[in-house]
Amino acid sequence: MASRKPLFLLTRTEPLAANNNSDLFREMGRVATLVDRQFDTLLQVPNDARRELYEAMRHAAIGGGKRLRPLLVMATAGLFNVDESCAVRAATAVEALHVYSLIHDDLPCMDDDDLRRGKPTTHIAFGEATAVLAGDALHALAFGLLSDDRTHHDPFVRAEMTACLAQAAGPAGMAGGQMMDLVAANSTFDLQTVTRLQQLKTGALIAACVEIGAILGRVPDEGRVSLRGYAHDLGLAFQIADDILDVEGDEQKAGKALQKDAVAGKETFLSLMGLDRAREQAQMLANQAKSHLSGYGSEADLLRAIAEYTIARDR
Ligand code: IPE
Ligand code: IPE
Ligand code: MG
Ligand code: MG
Ligand code: MG
Repeated sequence: MASRKPLFLLTRTEPLAANNNSDLFREMGRVATLVDRQFDTLLQVPNDARRELYEAMRHAAIGGGKRLRPLLVMATAGLFNVDESCAVRAATAVEALHVYSLIHDDLPCMDDDDLRRGKPTTHIAFGEATAVLAGDALHALAFGLLSDDRTHHDPFVRAEMTACLAQAAGPAGMAGGQMMDLVAANSTFDLQTVTRLQQLKTGALIAACVEIGAILGRVPDEGRVSLRGYAHDLGLAFQIADDILDVEGDEQKAGKALQKDAVAGKETFLSLMGLDRAREQAQMLANQAKSHLSGYGSEADLLRAIAEYTIARDR
């Protein structure tokens, strides 16, 4: 049964900038709280036969994860002084899409995992059929949020954000990457193919977070080139870090089963490059990501800190 006590008391008091790790972690915590509050409001459990669906959605969406994608939306929107109440709703939309992808990724027909964010996966807690529906409903919630006029008053901005997320989630984005990941178990992919797989599976949604922040900031297409470069390199660095964590991370800290890639017989950045080169590559990509931000001043320190954190994280 979902908790009804008020979970959140924080309000925005400081600008979105980060000069060091404590600024980053404070901002991560603040964004996590804001996103939790959004989900709590959006997912009030009705007193009817849909109760279990809402409870499964809350189980998956509230109180867990790094909230890296919402942080990216808000950090990018913060560069352009976007109203924070708009940015939080768009950030929650991207997180809803991400949580849906995790629910489905963990299903027995996919990675068959029992643990996610330190809790039982949604199908373990609620059964497979409810988990599928919870994923479906979070997917719909994401697009509902982006197309809602409370997220942005301008229908062109809403349409552009919605199209951006659709592109990132579909067959030319995450779903396509997940398909390649299924095929990977029975193939010997080379580095170029693994890179493409990861760009679609993980990179596309990460790129969409930065893009949506820029769309909210009404940055014209030609003004987004450096941000796209940042997001591209960040996405790859993020996935190399995920592959390294899969091999040498701590399951307690990660909150999910590890050592899965090797068991599934999938080529990863790590299997193709080795640990040392993978680490070097991740650092090089994080540096490159930051170098794309050279046209910004301290207002982009949070994005710089995110790039460093992405490769240094332990979960
Ligand atoms: C996990 O994403 C799935 C991948 C795309 C590798 P995250 O590592 O961002 O997971 P959470 O959101 O923190 O749980
Ligand atoms: C999941 O990738 C990516 C998506 C959900 C789109 P993984 O299967 O590598 O993620 P984890 O390791 O289970 O978090
Ligand atoms: Mg998977
Ligand atoms: Mg998985
Ligand atoms: Mg993984």
